[in-house]
Amino acid sequence: MLAISRALRQRLVSAMEEGLDLAEPPDPQLTAASKPEFGDFQANGAMGLARQLQQAPRQIAQTIVDHLDLADLCEPPRIAGPGFINLTLKPEVIARAIAERVGDPRLGVAEAPVRQRVVVDFSSPNIAKEMHVGHLRSTIIGDCLARLLAFRGHDVLRLNHVGDWGTQFGMLITQLKQVAPQALDAADAVDLGDLVAFYRQAKQRFDEDETFRTQSREEVVKLQRGDPFSRRAWALLCSQSRQEFQRIYDRLGVGIEERGESFYNARLTGVVEALDSAGLLVTDDGARCVFPDGSSDKRKQGSALPPVIVQKRDGGFNYAATDLAAIRYRLAGADGGEGDAAERVIYVTDAGQASHFEAVFQVARRAGWITPGQSLEHVPFGLVQGADGRKLKTRAGDTVRLRDLLDQAVQRARADLERRLADEGRQEDEAFIAHVAETVGMAAVKYADLSQNRITDYQFSFDRMLALQGNTAPYLLYAYVRIQGIARRGGALTATAPDPIRLGAAEAFSLARQLLHFDEVLVELERELLPNRLCTYLFELSQTFNRFYDRVPVLKAEEPDRSSRLALCRLSADTLKLGLELLGIGTLDRM
Ligand code: ARG
Repeated sequence: MLAISRALRQRLVSAMEEGLDLAEPPDPQLTAASKPEFGDFQANGAMGLARQLQQAPRQIAQTIVDHLDLADLCEPPRIAGPGFINLTLKPEVIARAIAERVGDPRLGVAEAPVRQRVVVDFSSPNIAKEMHVGHLRSTIIGDCLARLLAFRGHDVLRLNHVGDWGTQFGMLITQLKQVAPQALDAADAVDLGDLVAFYRQAKQRFDEDETFRTQSREEVVKLQRGDPFSRRAWALLCSQSRQEFQRIYDRLGVGIEERGESFYNARLTGVVEALDSAGLLVTDDGARCVFPDGSSDKRKQGSALPPVIVQKRDGGFNYAATDLAAIRYRLAGADGGEGDAAERVIYVTDAGQASHFEAVFQVARRAGWITPGQSLEHVPFGLVQGADGRKLKTRAGDTVRLRDLLDQAVQRARADLERRLADEGRQEDEAFIAHVAETVGMAAVKYADLSQNRITDYQFSFDRMLALQGNTAPYLLYAYVRIQGIARRGGALTATAPDPIRLGAAEAFSLARQLLHFDEVLVELERELLPNRLCTYLFELSQTFNRFYDRVPVLKAEEPDRSSRLALCRLSADTLKLGLELLGIGTLDRM
């Protein structure tokens, strides 16, 4: 509906310019109607002009309406409340817009007017540590945002900022040398589960044992110096973890390019030099830091950002330093030199890292690395909680392994399906059952996450995410399956709509109106980066479709209603499929 709303907006602006004596170009404040009974759109611009024009807002609204020429698009405008102008599109306008969309592969969604180079930094687990539910959230949300941005025509680079560098390797290599040297010598000698256990032991010894601590520190220095044995051991550990991560990505259908922290190692001293020559570095207790702007006052009030430590007293670098190097690299390069030349960089991590990003973004800004037209955005999300509202844990109190979590989702989806097949007396082969269970299981996990406002914490519940009713993946998938069922029963879901398309039944008309909002939802998602908005839209669309399908005959209708309704079914299916695809969720023809 964006093309239509753009036309309406223009006409409103002209009417305001003609009828009102305004100093500045007017803003009609056109938005989607807050309720369907108010029509399709409302213009709220009259209210804000009352003071300036010394007139009652309803009177201003009347003047706008008197000068408004919308007869080809809308029913006569109505003024409501303190001065809203309610606009209802003519059925033939809706019918024409629907007919144009049917069979259009982009379903009327335009590409963004300006194509940007966008980096999406997401997933980013740590080597030798288990990938946990926080990384799962980042993976699911980041993948969705990357898909949407690519669909809008942007040039998207999906980056996995894997934690593959730092002190953990010193401990781990020291521990392995002593207890499992074979792990440092041959690929596949240990699996990730073992590595995680070794890491835990190493961490404990590091905290307790002075000699071990010293050995570990020496090991880090060796690694950083490029000692061949250490490098080889490091590479082996990384590849071991990498294989495990890849299994999860394959299962989730997520593509991502690995560019871990180690990539920036060679660029860290450059960061120090750049910050030093920008006059931002302060030496504090031997460490080289950047104090955030105004920090000393705010710190007294206890609300400010801590200083960013760029180089530790022992010369080592940390997480923040690496992120500074990464920012610099990602933003540079527009001149053909080294870098990604990104215009928008998006970081998808838990909300706990908000102040880290705020601090490093601030340093980058003050260092002059961000040019006009470039932006850095942190996209935070809340915690994943268990049913008890606490951090998600296994019964034994351990962190939940992602592999187990995904397996369990699929097992439960399978059990639900088998129960349903038995109830319905249906026979299906193993290939069908396995495929449906896998698709539904993955869809349920992803959708449960994406359909929550990402900022809030969310409670993980297999029962809720797999329910056939409610705002769940199975409910949406099932609406799609119903439409495919129409095709199987002889309704041709062709790519062309009859002209004019008939929207006689009230349920058909509401469905059509709702289908037309798809493009606005995607544009809003691109701006706000909130996937739950798309989920809500698809859920409501499924509900509206189901109401239509339960009450309005399709296959048994007479022509020309029959083909018009089939066209609505086709567009509903295509919209659900594309919407789910942008969420990273595959559809099924039968389930
Ligand atoms: N490895 C980090 C973690 O597990 C996430 C990295 C996010 N990306 C970044 N550029 N800092 O929390």
